[in-house]
Amino acid sequence: MSNKVVLILLIFCLRCRAFEVEKFKKEYCTENLEQSSLYCSSLNITISEVTDIQENDFVISNCSHIVFQSAELGVVNNNFFKKFPQAEEIRLSYSSFNLTSSKKVDDLPKLKKLVFRLCTVENINNSNAFESLSNLESLIMEFYLRGNATISKNLLEKNNKLRFLEIAAFKGKLEFSENVLTTLENLKELNIRFVGNISSNLLKNNKKIENLIISSDVMNSFPEDLVIPETVKLLHLNDLKIQNISRKHFEKLKALKVLNLSANHINSFDTNTFIDLENLTSLTMSSNKLSDVTEEHFIHLKNLKKLDLRYNYLNLKVDDFPKMVASRDYFNLLIDPQYTLY
Ligand SMILES: *[C@@H]1O[C@H](CO)[C@@H](O)[C@H](O)[C@H]1NC(C)=O
Ligand SMILES: *[C@@H]1O[C@H](CO)[C@@H](O)[C@H](O)[C@H]1NC(C)=O
Ligand SMILES: *[C@@H]1O[C@H](CO)[C@@H](O)[C@H](O)[C@H]1NC(C)=O
Ligand SMILES: *[C@@H]1O[C@H](CO)[C@@H](O)[C@H](O)[C@H]1NC(C)=O
Ligand SMILES: *[C@@H]1O[C@H](CO)[C@@H](O)[C@H](O)[C@H]1NC(C)=O
Ligand SMILES: *[C@@H]1O[C@H](CO)[C@@H](O)[C@H](O)[C@H]1NC(C)=O
Ligand SMILES: *[C@@H]1O[C@H](CO)[C@@H](O)[C@H](O)[C@H]1NC(C)=O
Ligand SMILES: *[C@@H]1O[C@H](CO)[C@@H](O)[C@H](O)[C@H]1NC(C)=O
Ligand SMILES: *[C@@H]1O[C@H](CO)[C@@H](O)[C@H](O)[C@H]1NC(C)=O
Repeated sequence: MSNKVVLILLIFCLRCRAFEVEKFKKEYCTENLEQSSLYCSSLNITISEVTDIQENDFVISNCSHIVFQSAELGVVNNNFFKKFPQAEEIRLSYSSFNLTSSKKVDDLPKLKKLVFRLCTVENINNSNAFESLSNLESLIMEFYLRGNATISKNLLEKNNKLRFLEIAAFKGKLEFSENVLTTLENLKELNIRFVGNISSNLLKNNKKIENLIISSDVMNSFPEDLVIPETVKLLHLNDLKIQNISRKHFEKLKALKVLNLSANHINSFDTNTFIDLENLTSLTMSSNKLSDVTEEHFIHLKNLKKLDLRYNYLNLKVDDFPKMVASRDYFNLLIDPQYTLY
């Protein structure tokens, strides 16, 4: 696949219809002069002049990997997707999309990866735009919103092959309705940033998740009773104003290796809080409000190799961790004032 992915820029000017494609034409494309169209197996275009893509601008029906990067690309309508029936991967940045429920992205049976980076979307509420992308495995939605928006159950309901999902929203507030992720039983990685609300049973059917990242300073109240799948190996809960943590939050997470609770409001926790995390290798609690923490809080974490307690109200020295330092070949302790032990 990687040799199919082109690293060539095509400077494409619609107004003058001048294609500067000589370089990659030979390798990946054939030109049909009569139709002024290109047939490519792979396409990576950075456009600065194009503000809209019209129906017949190019025929690149054999294209499997498509990358569009444009600061000015206007509204991309559904005819855009129609051009790529063979697409396996589509990446778009800085474009606008209308995801209104009546307009589905066309059936792209081969599409496995769809990436929106910093794209503006309209009409996402109740959208089922991705309904026919039944083989999608990876979806990244990094959206600028015009106003607030809600993702309903319809949006991802049919994408049950998804293994990787990233959702981030800027400008407006993105809300989740109940059951947004219910059908995504194969999800392995979930990354949610700047989302306005989630429910405590958000992940009740996602029993295969290994990497879970939730970070959102716009969430009004993070459900501290969020049910986290026992399969999770990496867990980041950042910027969620979490105050209270206790053993019941972590007791089932025996597979957990990396835990990051940075940038919350935790000021204290019991010494047995992490007692069940026998496989934990890295714990980050930087930028909280911790004031009273001792070695006893972490001593039972037999596999812990890295502990980050910086940016709290702690007055700790390496000497405060004598047993952990002595009993481990490698222990990376990060404490204020910027004293690092390797
Ligand atoms: C597409 O081209 C851009 C600009 O050269 C490059 O940064 C990017 O990695 C390329 N993407 C792919 C998938 O080849
Ligand atoms: C498109 O792909 C098909 C099969 O992969 C091939 O037979 C056909 O010649 C290709 N068309 C063009 C215009 O490259
Ligand atoms: C988006 O779709 C809706 C409904 O079809 C339409 O009213 C609206 O004008 C579209 N917006 C854009 C920017 O095309
Ligand atoms: C979006 O939601 C926020 C908080 O819920 C609210 O303050 C704001 O007025 C809303 N914006 C719009 C455009 O509705
Ligand atoms: C979409 O839902 C949000 C609430 O999340 C609401 O503020 C917004 O007005 C809705 N937009 C449309 C186009 O219905
Ligand atoms: C999130 O907020 C929206 C609008 O306020 C509401 O309709 C929805 O039920 C909330 N979702 C959850 C999971 O609480
Ligand atoms: C955290 O615990 C304190 C003390 O038990 C309690 O006052 C506070 O309401 C709790 N916070 C949350 C978000 O549950
Ligand atoms: C803990 O880690 C070991 C070694 O990597 C692994 O064999 C074991 O399955 C892990 N435990 C759980 C509950 O995942
Ligand atoms: C923990 O999360 C914070 C906030 O997102 C991030 O800056 C930091 O790099 C993370 N650290 C680790 C070890 O993952």
